[in-house]
Amino acid sequence: MRVVRTPAELTEWTETARRQGRRVGLVPTMGFLHQGHLSLMVACRERADVTAVSIFVNPTQFGPTEDLARYPRDLEGDLEKCRAAKVDTVFAPEAGAMYPPGHRTFVEVTGLQDGLCGGRRPGHFRGVATVVTQLFALARPHVAVFGEKDWQQLQILRRLAVDLHLGVEVVGMPIIREPDGLAMSSRNAYLSPPERTRALALSRGLAAARARWAAGERGAEALREAVRAELGAAEVREDYVALVTPDTLEDLQRADRADARLLVAGFVGKTRLIDNTAIGC
Ligand code: PAJ
Repeated sequence: MRVVRTPAELTEWTETARRQGRRVGLVPTMGFLHQGHLSLMVACRERADVTAVSIFVNPTQFGPTEDLARYPRDLEGDLEKCRAAKVDTVFAPEAGAMYPPGHRTFVEVTGLQDGLCGGRRPGHFRGVATVVTQLFALARPHVAVFGEKDWQQLQILRRLAVDLHLGVEVVGMPIIREPDGLAMSSRNAYLSPPERTRALALSRGLAAARARWAAGERGAEALREAVRAELGAAEVREDYVALVTPDTLEDLQRADRADARLLVAGFVGKTRLIDNTAIGC
C-alpha cells in the first residue's frame, strides 16, 4: 500500500492507473476508521481495479464552534486498517496542501445544502462539496463510494457529480451499525458509557417509527412523534426530525411511499449524532 501526502502524487498515481486501463475507485474519509468506513472500501474494491482512500479532516466543513480541533485522529491505526482492507493508496494531505494561501474557490449545491444538517450547520455542505470536488479533480475516479449514514451528504454529492459533469459514479452503501443498533460513527468515541446507552434513542426512535408505519400510520407528524418519544425518554436533545423525499429532500406530510426517508439529529450531551432510515423497510 502506498501512502501519498501531496495532491500531485495522488494525481500521478491515479493517472498511471487510468493509462493502464484500470478503473479507479475513491473512498473519501476523515479517518478514525471503523467498520462503516471499511464496508465502503470493500464495496469500492468490488467496483474498481484500484482503490484509493483519502484521510483528511477537512477544516472548511466545521463551523467555528464545532469539534475540528478535537476530532479524533489515529493515522497509524487507520493505515493498518487500510492495509488489512487491501487498499492500494491512501492520500493523507496536510490542510495547507488542500487549502494553500490564496485559496478562493468553493462549491455549493444550492437548495439541497440548506435544510436538515445544512440548516443546523451553516456552511457545512459548502465545505464538504468543495473538498470532495477537489478530491474528484485530483483522483479523477471512475467510481466513488459514500455511506447512507450521511444521507443528505450522499444526495448532495450525487447532484454535484451530475451537475459538474464529473463522470464519476457515486455509489451509496447501507449504514453499518453496532450490534445494539447504534450507527457507527467516529464521533461515538466522544460518548461516556452512560451517553453511549442514551445514544441508542436515535436508532430506537427510527425503529419505533418504522413499526408505526408497518401498523398503518402514514402521517408525518405521528411518525416524527414516535422518534421524539424515544429521544425524550433518553434525554437526547432533538436537533431535527424530518420526513423527506429520498433524493430532493423535500418535506413530506405523509409517508405514502416506502422510500420516504426519516432523518434524525440529536445531541447526547455535547455530542451531535445523526441517523436515518427508509420508512417502509
Ligand atoms: P466521515 O465521517 O469520515 O465518513 C466517510 C464516509 O463513511 C462517508 O461516506 C460516510 O457516510 C461513511 N460512513 C460513516 N459512518 C458510516 C456507517 N456507520 N455506515 C456506513 N457508512 C458510514 O463523511 C465524511 O467523512 C466527510 O464529510 C467527507 C465526505 C470525507 C468529506 O470531508
